[in-house]
Amino acid sequence: MDTRASLSESPVIIADREAWEEINLRDAGTVEVEIGFGSGEYLLRRASQYPDRLFIGIEKKPGMITEVAKMVASRNLDNIRLLESCAREAFTELFPACSVSRAYSLFPDPWPKRKHSKYRLFSPQFLRLLNNRLISGSEALIVTDSEDYCNWVLTQLPGTGFEVENGTIPPQFDTRFERKWLKQELRTFFRILLRKTEHIEA
Ligand SMILES: C[S@@+](CC[C@H](N)C(=O)[O-])C[C@H]1O[C@@H](n2cnc3c(N)ncnc32)[C@H](O)[C@@H]1O
Repeated sequence: MDTRASLSESPVIIADREAWEEINLRDAGTVEVEIGFGSGEYLLRRASQYPDRLFIGIEKKPGMITEVAKMVASRNLDNIRLLESCAREAFTELFPACSVSRAYSLFPDPWPKRKHSKYRLFSPQFLRLLNNRLISGSEALIVTDSEDYCNWVLTQLPGTGFEVENGTIPPQFDTRFERKWLKQELRTFFRILLRKTEHIEA
């Protein structure tokens, strides 16, 4: 049976506050967070590679959560938890300060139209929040196919407590969107690596 009700019983999906509190982030060791994991390829691969780390995937589309939860179960991965949420809300309400060891977002929605730019995730407000939730010295990785979006993110950074390293990279993540761009002959992506150098109160 493939229903939301049956999946809400999956231990992989964090369905409520009680399930979230059971994780006990303070004692969880190294915690990695993927924002907008989509079909979950990268999250699943990293979780298999690093069985001693805890991986929390945040995705706002319920269908993705359901599919990825099935894959987590079929691969017997016990170090992944999935949150159906907007990353802004999840970071605001659930994660305490200095609780995340690494965060990444592969091909975040670029919202290219000017009238939609208010929906872009990596605003100064979100970057300050992300900074606050990351452990000092840790990193957040953003990879995008859009040079405009990359340049926009770079302009959002002042005052967010990050040092930045950016440049172009070849395909290497084998996610659904990376494959989509490859089919369209796009082979250069934009990487923004943020290192937390100063703690921001949020
Ligand atoms: C372009 S897709 C990329 C998916 C995947 N990372 C990949 O590389 O194939 C962007 C994903 O981010 C999710 N997303 C967008 N905004 C989000 C937000 N504020 N919080 C959580 N997920 C978000 C979307 O639902 C979508 O699955």
